[in-house]
Amino acid sequence: NRWRASILTLFPEMFPGPLGLSLAGRALRDGRWSLDTHDIRAFATDRHRTVDDTPAGGGAGMVMRPDVLDTAIGEVLAEGDARPLIYLTPRGRLLDQATVRTLAAGPGCVLLCGRYEGIDQRVIEARGMVELSIGDYVLSGGETAALVLLDACVRLLPGVMGAAESATEESHGAEGLLEYPHYTRPAEWNGRAIPEVLLSGHHAEIARWRRAESERITKERRPDLWARHEAKHGGAGGM
Ligand code: ADE
Repeated sequence: NRWRASILTLFPEMFPGPLGLSLAGRALRDGRWSLDTHDIRAFATDRHRTVDDTPAGGGAGMVMRPDVLDTAIGEVLAEGDARPLIYLTPRGRLLDQATVRTLAAGPGCVLLCGRYEGIDQRVIEARGMVELSIGDYVLSGGETAALVLLDACVRLLPGVMGAAESATEESHGAEGLLEYPHYTRPAEWNGRAIPEVLLSGHHAEIARWRRAESERITKERRPDLWARHEAKHGGAGGM
């Protein structure tokens, strides 16, 4: 019942990559999650191990074949495996912390990393893939996006984050706000002081200041998040 990630990729050497280090790496060695990679090319059937072909209708680039992908998926996702099959693509719904929380609370995930211009639409539909994007920019493949998604999930697994890395007051937390700024010693650095309230020892005032900073920064940088926060937590009239 450990949280399990299975990766379908043409570049299995990219994993675990950075997830073998630091917090995620320690958790992997401690058996708090597991990772298995599967080389899509191993499921090609012709002697050239072809995984892609020219796009129907013409145009540039190559498209990954549905038959090869379906065989690979069938090998990894056995009957009764409840994990979601996620295809990383810039056409997907934007990944957010709510989705990360849901994934981390489940049994794990199967991640399909595409290359070339994309994959045949029919296998996306036939396999009921969940299409996710990690942001509005284009990567050269889904592998780095898969690493990002896994990093975000694994740090939320039970026992992975210590008290020091606690997720209770971070950006995109329960309140849907960005985090307040942080300071440490020295108290004055290159003519810059730490905000006085933080050195006051007044916990309520510190909490108030941090909250105000969170709100100010969210309004300024992310009006979209601020609007959602206002809709959800109300606040009109300061009641
Ligand atoms: N593959 C290429 N670009 C991507 C993105 N932004 N998100 C997820 N997968 C991708």
